[in-house]
Amino acid sequence: MNHLAKIKQCGGRIAALTAYDFLTAQLLDRAGIDMILVGDSLANVVLGYPTTLPVTMEEMLHHAKAVARGVARALTVADMPFLSYQTGLDDAVRNAGRFLKEGGVEAVKLEGAGPILAVVERLVQLGIPVLGHLGYTPQSVHRFGSNIVQAKTAARAGELLNDAMALEGAGAFAVVLECVPAEVARLITERLTVPTIGIGAGPFCDGQILVLHDALGLTPRSPRLAKRYLELGGMIADAARSYIREVREGAFPAAEHCYEMPEDELRALAADERSGERKAR
Ligand code: KIV
Repeated sequence: MNHLAKIKQCGGRIAALTAYDFLTAQLLDRAGIDMILVGDSLANVVLGYPTTLPVTMEEMLHHAKAVARGVARALTVADMPFLSYQTGLDDAVRNAGRFLKEGGVEAVKLEGAGPILAVVERLVQLGIPVLGHLGYTPQSVHRFGSNIVQAKTAARAGELLNDAMALEGAGAFAVVLECVPAEVARLITERLTVPTIGIGAGPFCDGQILVLHDALGLTPRSPRLAKRYLELGGMIADAARSYIREVREGAFPAAEHCYEMPEDELRALAADERSGERKAR
């Protein structure tokens, strides 16, 4: 958390990505990423749910543990899933605590402000660092409908700024801004002391985050906000087609993929086989 604050203070930019498994988290960490989020986008990109709403605490914890085992340096944050913090302070403390105690991550992320501010305040008081999330918050998908970009009017932008300031006041160490106009994100970034981390919020935030599967081109299509740094989905399909062809043609495995037996053992095996054949006859 302090590390992210220092990046903002020095005028640097925070680079964050999501991850959901050990190996990928290790790769991102070694590449120098500042923050890894075990996002509840796990629901969509790993578990195949249509929204983030169905993902459970147990599913999130399972993946948080794997990610934490792969990270030596970056800040690790886990998303609190829908209904793990909205149902009361005790539930929120117990579930957030599980992410630190069992999951091994260092902080949790919660969506929204308003009634969530009391939760943020309590968690922070208890030593559980909180990352806020405003703008388009996917756990409210049924409230937003097809209105993805938020705070498009001056009035809504003002409300968003107030929410961001309230989150900072409640103790959030940074705030994710999702799908808001770049100028609104700039205003909020200038007004907050804590860093803003944008996703579809333009270039003026203190940092950026993307869903890893979008950045790697694993998803068939990415939202406009995402840049595809690879087309890994196509590469995986090509590799799978090559493998299938080689297996069917007998081209794989080749000699270099096979294990050998010492010559004398091979001769002994052949002799055993011959004597076995004789006995069988
Ligand atoms: O779940 C997630 O991946 C997120 C990011 C999009 C910020 O919340």
